[in-house]
Amino acid sequence: MAFSELFLQELAERNDIVDVVSGYVQLTKRSGSNLFGLCPFHSEKTPSFSVAPDKQIYHCFGCGKGGSVIGFIMEIENLSFPDAVAFLARRAGMAIPEQEDDPNARKRERMLALNREAARFFYDQLKSPEGGRAQEYLTRRQLSGRTAKNFGLGFAPDTWTSLTDAMKARGYTEQELFDAGLVRHGKKGGVYDTFRDRLMFPVIDVRGNVIGFSGRILGDGEPKYMNTPETLVFSKSHNLFGLNLAKKSKMGFIILVEGNVDVASLHQAGFDCAVASLGTSLTPEQARLLSRYTNEIVIAYDGDNAGQKAAQRAIGLLEKLDMRVRVLRMEGAKDPDEYIKTYGADAFRNLLEGSENHIEYRLQSVQRKYDLSAPEQKVAYVKEAAGVIAQLPGSVEREVYAMRVAELAGIQNAAVADEIARQRKQKLRTARKELAREQLRPVRQREKQSGVRYDNPHSAAAEEGVIRLLYLDSALFSGLEPPKEEQFSSPELRHIYSVLLSHARERRPVSLAALGETLSSQELQLLTRIIQQDDLSDRREQALRDYIHILNTDSLTGGDTDLRAYADKLKERKGYGGTTK
Ligand code: CTP
Ligand code: MN
Repeated sequence: MAFSELFLQELAERNDIVDVVSGYVQLTKRSGSNLFGLCPFHSEKTPSFSVAPDKQIYHCFGCGKGGSVIGFIMEIENLSFPDAVAFLARRAGMAIPEQEDDPNARKRERMLALNREAARFFYDQLKSPEGGRAQEYLTRRQLSGRTAKNFGLGFAPDTWTSLTDAMKARGYTEQELFDAGLVRHGKKGGVYDTFRDRLMFPVIDVRGNVIGFSGRILGDGEPKYMNTPETLVFSKSHNLFGLNLAKKSKMGFIILVEGNVDVASLHQAGFDCAVASLGTSLTPEQARLLSRYTNEIVIAYDGDNAGQKAAQRAIGLLEKLDMRVRVLRMEGAKDPDEYIKTYGADAFRNLLEGSENHIEYRLQSVQRKYDLSAPEQKVAYVKEAAGVIAQLPGSVEREVYAMRVAELAGIQNAAVADEIARQRKQKLRTARKELAREQLRPVRQREKQSGVRYDNPHSAAAEEGVIRLLYLDSALFSGLEPPKEEQFSSPELRHIYSVLLSHARERRPVSLAALGETLSSQELQLLTRIIQQDDLSDRREQALRDYIHILNTDSLTGGDTDLRAYADKLKERKGYGGTTK
């Protein structure tokens, strides 16, 4: 296939997995040589994501994801295999060998180039006489020329095919324009520009690619914003407007706002850490993306009902990722832009410094829902507020807020405290149950995670053992009769085994990174899980003999009887005593 094994191995050597992963995950040493951190691929509060420097692999015990440094970049940067290779090559300053064509990679590159050209076209239009109305709009919104330049703002003229014509002249086809979301098909055939008579905001990803556009109407009207539809390079739910700039901010937190104008206005006022989601309420993917650059978010959504609801949802998502969340309440202004225009940047800074932590904010929103002069509403209020407080980890904190709620509701402190204690117990019980379920799940879950079904769980451990040792130390097999492929119980294990065996036979060194093209991603994940398990370094030879023995005896007897014997043995070992029929 496209890359030689030699190249891929060198690539992996020059991109140490600990270095690469550390760019995304805070890793700490816990025991042995492995490093641990919070998994970037699923929400968790205790680290189950591990990196093994000696094996150069990562593996999450929680969600089962795992693989080489290339797999990690594919997963976290959302890149195809060749793109991830290119990414790492760039990182290590290596030249990429000529590749065979990956049609999508090609297309993606063309689309990014087209977007860049389109951004330049819009930018030029803004400067031209036709852009006068857009310039006026910027002036009216007090956005400076510098800000326009900083964001690469542009103007889509009020015509049907200006962009189409300009891009065609540069060699792009209608199909390419359509695929990039820049044109739509007309009823009578032909195409017309998607964005017309709008202030254009290029959406730039964290790598500096122009991946799409938001077009804002000049003034009032519906829809206020139009965004690029989903394309090969653009997904609304996976990106944030302004993150390309905010990720470089030194402010130490990120401000989340609703409108692109708010982002521009905040940056202009010196708050260079503002971002906006692209017309959706914050998505889990966006939350995760944010968590790569900060652990503190300040939400500055509009004060209206919709904005407040969206804030609540965002808080939930961000907290799941262990981020600190604060909410700004901008009295006397509907959004940050208006606030700064009315009260100035210093006032906004004060607001930021004093911004309430989210518990207080939550309690206030709970309070607003109820009429505390009505007894039955008072009860409901106390219950709901207690639920919020019950989530606080610190007992002093809980007491402080409990007192406040008691005071507001005009009831005894002890009554509120009791309710909090009751709800905490309940929450703990649920959490404990969940944990127990987690711990019970290994085999089933392993099967599910890896998508592999073991017909024979007894021999599965032995099969995995053989594969592990073959990967880690193929010299052990010299002088032994290696098991036959047919002795492996799933097609995936069979395939992995045969690939490793042929490497060993030809005395070719093997690395997970180089296997990235031979094995499917499912197989890679499976192999990662297998090789990260304990390898009994001092007793490998004996272990290998045992594994092979199990394989040989297991494949001689029928799977069924064997399963039953296995079940009996399990019971015996656990001391259940009883026998099965
Ligand atoms: N929005 C959108 N697409 C974007 C950005 C925002 O559809 N790329 C939506 C948001 O979901 C929100 C609204 O448009 O509902 C933007 O909010 P607003 O703050 O009103 O936008 P601004 O441009 O800041 O306008 P205004 O000056 O009126 O505040
Ligand atoms: Mn706004």
